[in-house]
Parts: sequence; structure tokens; C-alpha cells
Amino acid sequence: MLLAALPDTEALIVPAEATDQHQTTERQRHGRPNVCTMGAYAFQGHRGAPMRETQANIERVTRLNAHIQRLHLSIEDSLNTIKPGQTVLARRFYGSQPEQWQPYLREHWWPVAVTAKPGHPSEMTVDRPTYPSYDPGQQYTLLGPVGKPFAYKRTIRQVLMIAHDTMPSPLLMSTEWLLSNKVNTTLVLSGKAVDYPVSELPKELEVIRSDDKLQWPNRVMTVGWADQVFVAVGQDDEMGRFKEVLELFKALRAEVPKQYIFGVSQLIQPCGVGACQACTISLQGGDYALACLDGPALDLTALHLP
Ligand code: FES
Repeated sequence: MLLAALPDTEALIVPAEATDQHQTTERQRHGRPNVCTMGAYAFQGHRGAPMRETQANIERVTRLNAHIQRLHLSIEDSLNTIKPGQTVLARRFYGSQPEQWQPYLREHWWPVAVTAKPGHPSEMTVDRPTYPSYDPGQQYTLLGPVGKPFAYKRTIRQVLMIAHDTMPSPLLMSTEWLLSNKVNTTLVLSGKAVDYPVSELPKELEVIRSDDKLQWPNRVMTVGWADQVFVAVGQDDEMGRFKEVLELFKALRAEVPKQYIFGVSQLIQPCGVGACQACTISLQGGDYALACLDGPALDLTALHLP
């Protein structure tokens, strides 16, 4: 179902980039690369990815557990080509109603799934905390897609996803796509992530519950088999937790090559187009990356970690 919404398999297999191509360069930083072409409605980011403002409608809201609710949205067809790893920035839209107070920052939504069936509106599914509340019929404007798709190797057979003290939602759209392309996929849930309802996950997905220290049975084997790893962590100390996971892999593997383990950054993104620098992440060598343009998935071996 997800695959039907996506253009083709090859489009998602992005050649791994050399580390020095993964970062925001001096010219891009100061060369005013972001071009607004349609007032507030279409932007061109550093990487040339088209970002548009589209409208969405909440069709249904379901409760996954005491902490998570799932929004089912009808979206414009132009957004149904969004790929695993890309996100949207959402703001409530009140139409002709009197203007309402709204926070400056948009909400950062990570699609869990996108479906597109001929003759039906495209649908996007998003996990959100149970506060604030959402209701069917509410309209939103979505800026997106934000960021780059996850960059899978071309010869990938086994992918390991780790949600460490955070909801696994940023990884879920990717797992659906990998499974439908016959890539064995394992999801490790640790800390707060263990409460995520597995009934909402694909049946083909191997799910492992670890303890808070990322210990689980056959851990060495799981890590050894993985061709690539994507990690999402709790937001209280994202870089510290990325370092914790990277150190673990260095201890369990003979080597941790480049383009092997990626941290999926969930930093707050006020603009999503590289203008505000709020999502800056330090890289080794003194340069930096922007999560909204270079990420959200960044090679952990390239980051300057504490
Ligand atoms: S969100 Fe503004 S630069 Fe990334």
C-alpha cells in the first residue's frame, strides 16, 4: 500500500554520499540559496528539493495508547510522493473563521505512512502526543517535504532501526518501504519506546524490546548482520544519546564504516529551509550540517559528538 504511493523503488535508493558532501558548505551558508518563488507557497531549499504549502484535513483520530494518538489526514496529491525520512511542518488553518491565536512555530510531523489509491484522496498518517487534542474536520497547512530521504545502500539486505527513549514514529515509514522491497528489517525499542503498540507495526517486522541500556539477547548477532542502521533517540540529550549508541556499535563491531550508522535528528525546525540555523549540528572538522536540509538522517561517524 505504501509502495503504491511512491514513484518507484530506485527513487528511494539514494547513492551514499561522501562525508564531505553531506554537510552544508560555506557558499551555501552565505550565498542566499533559498528562493521563495510563490510568496509563502513554494520554496527552493539548498538541495533543490521542492517544498510547497498544501492543505490537509483530519479525517479520523485514533488513540494508540495513553500517550500517542494517530491522525489520518487527507492530503493533496502533490504531497503523496514524500519519501521515508522526509517530514512536514504543520499549522492549523482556520479558513474564513475569525483569526485565532497560534504559536509562531509549526508542529513538526513525521509521516508514518502515505497512501494513494486511484479515485481516492491521498492519505497521510501521523503519530502525535495526546496533547494537544486533534479533531476530525480540522484543517491544517503543511509545508513540505522537508529534508532528504533516508539514503539506503544499493545492495542492502538487512536494516536495523533503533528507537531509544523516543517514539519509533520517525522510522516507521521507512520500515514499511523496506519490508515491501524484501529488505529484512529489525526494530529495537528501548526505554520509552517499549510502550509503542506493536499491533500498529507491520507483521513482517522483527521487533526487539531492549532494556534501558540497549541490551537485548543476541545483540552481537543483530548488530553484525545489519548492513545499515538508523537511530532515533530521546530529545532531552540527542547528541549525548547518539554518542552512547555509536560507542556501543564501536564496542560490538570490528569497525564502524562511514555511511553505516545514521542518527535521525528530531531537532526543532522553525523554518525547514535552512534560513534560521536553529537545526545546526556540529560536524567533525569544524563545519556543520542543518538537519532540515542535510538530514534528518546524518552519518554518526561524521558528527562532532560531546
Ligand atoms: S529549521 Fe531553520 S535552518 Fe533548519
